[in-house]
Amino acid sequence: MASMSTGKGRSGFELTMSGGSERIAWYFLRVSGAALVFFALGHMFITHYLNAPSETTFNFVADRWANPLWRTFDSLLLISALWHGLVGLRFTLADYVPRTGRAAAYGVLWIVGLIFTVLGLVTIFTFDEAAARDNTGPLAGEIWIGDLLGYSLYAFALVTYIGVIALAIWVLNNMRNGVATIYHGDAGQYAWVLHRSTGVGILFFLLVHILDIMLVGLGRDVYDHTVEFYAEPFIIPMELMLVGAVIYHTLNGVRIIAINFTKRGPSREKRYFWWVLALSVLLTIPSIFVIFAAEF
Ligand code: HEM
Repeated sequence: MASMSTGKGRSGFELTMSGGSERIAWYFLRVSGAALVFFALGHMFITHYLNAPSETTFNFVADRWANPLWRTFDSLLLISALWHGLVGLRFTLADYVPRTGRAAAYGVLWIVGLIFTVLGLVTIFTFDEAAARDNTGPLAGEIWIGDLLGYSLYAFALVTYIGVIALAIWVLNNMRNGVATIYHGDAGQYAWVLHRSTGVGILFFLLVHILDIMLVGLGRDVYDHTVEFYAEPFIIPMELMLVGAVIYHTLNGVRIIAINFTKRGPSREKRYFWWVLALSVLLTIPSIFVIFAAEF
């Protein structure tokens, strides 16, 4: 990942900002990140603090989208989160995909981006509450589609749990063996790995989420059937980890912007990291009570 040098260049992969698309992508991540502080945290506050995810039923969406302001909010959230995530993933891929394969990998990213942008905007702006509520649409009776999305949430949860365990083992191993893979092994190393893994994790959840929201247009019964999966005990820990991931990634994103653009940022990056960690834990706790109060 390209970060303007703070005197602690990242070991292992130095990317000199060659100007052009690299520099535009670097600034895009920071500008879209700043916008997402409002859109992503706003959305998550409504769906994980004021309500539990399993309460975001057809009626919840229909009431919200009756107001064009919420349709505008959700479409801006969709575009900024999706493209911020994909541009971020482009930098992630640059670290692992050999130069010969990058053009193809980036091509796949932009095609996925276009498909999910269209799917999301069509869902938001063509939503016909009356037809969907009466389940009169051609696929309204196809409950198996709801199952398909529901079980993809199971698969996503399983991958999340394996990922979190692998990350914990990696961190503990490094700490025990004193391995300094990046940023000379100090706080920056763990801040960066957590930022990347939360960013990529949120992006993949977002893709599944765009597909499950799409069902609201097919019919009330199909959509509500999928939302019931959010109350499943196997999936609830994933939802809480998602809240923690969005909060950590957001706060650390603000930390990165402070490091990049403020005079004192570079010298305070370690202190900021401990603040980010402590705040992430503190701010995630209330959502645990909300979900447990709703589900148990
Ligand atoms: C909610 C949806 C979001 C998704 C899906 C997402 C995803 C990502 C991904 C995949 C990366 C690349 C990580 C890497 O390769 O190291 C990234 C980077 C970044 N994200 Fe986000 N992010 C989101 C929200 C935010 C927010 C709210 C901020 C707040 C400022 C933010 C700030 C950043 C910054 C500054 C970077 C660049 C990091 C660097 O240069 O080291 N992101 N994001």
